[in-house]
Amino acid sequence: MNVRLIVPAAGMGLRLGLAQPKALVLCGGKPLLVRTLERFQPLGLLPGAIITVPPGTQTDFEALLGDAFPDTAFFLVDGGRERQESVENALETIDNAAEIVVIHDAARPFISQTSVQASIDAAEEFGAATVAIPCSDTILVAGADDILADTPDRSCLWACQTPQTFRVDVIRQAHQHARAQCFAATDDATLVRQMGGTVKLVMGSPFNFKVTTPEDLMLAEAIIAKGFV
Ligand code: CTP
Ligand code: MG
Repeated sequence: MNVRLIVPAAGMGLRLGLAQPKALVLCGGKPLLVRTLERFQPLGLLPGAIITVPPGTQTDFEALLGDAFPDTAFFLVDGGRERQESVENALETIDNAAEIVVIHDAARPFISQTSVQASIDAAEEFGAATVAIPCSDTILVAGADDILADTPDRSCLWACQTPQTFRVDVIRQAHQHARAQCFAATDDATLVRQMGGTVKLVMGSPFNFKVTTPEDLMLAEAIIAKGFV
């Protein structure tokens, strides 16, 4: 099938707290976005990949990508205020030949090719798939004043990761449905579920964490220094 890659990279990284968009932050000497894109190179998914960027930063991103991948053409798209809007903008630019779309956060630099391929296979079969990992921590639901309200059964809890991979018609419909219903989510698979669709969970890895906080960035740099990935 004809596969396209979308990489949401339009976030400002407020929780990381540096003076630049998170995707441009150096991680082990390389911008986070470049590290993440490199994971997709062996799968042949970089040519024509769509990257959402903070409005007004296209020139910075173009320069960075030109240096790192001089022979590859990317499509840069202005992101929206929220991730959901960024992905919506990216989906609008997808060509008609595309059948499957892989959506992967710029902030997850250690995705394995096995997980990407498994998500593509699952999307072909089920229409929608997300990489995720079973929760190892017990999850607590807090009520008012941080008083414990509920402890859901851990055996059915998974932590969401990306990529989330879809048949193009399915994810387009899910975003249209979410917009019509004013439904917002921090990921795309939830939009498919919310419209009543099927989403297959595909096994990810603890290494595929999202660089969100300064501690995550330190962990990512330690992983690179140790040569784990
Ligand atoms: N993202 C995006 N458009 C937005 C917000 C986020 O494309 N309006 C992207 C980010 O660049 C990131 C991914 O979605 O690759 C996951 O978002 P998150 O980890 O929340 O990144 P930020 O929004 O940059 O971080 P923060 O929430 O701390 O500001
Ligand atoms: Mg965010």
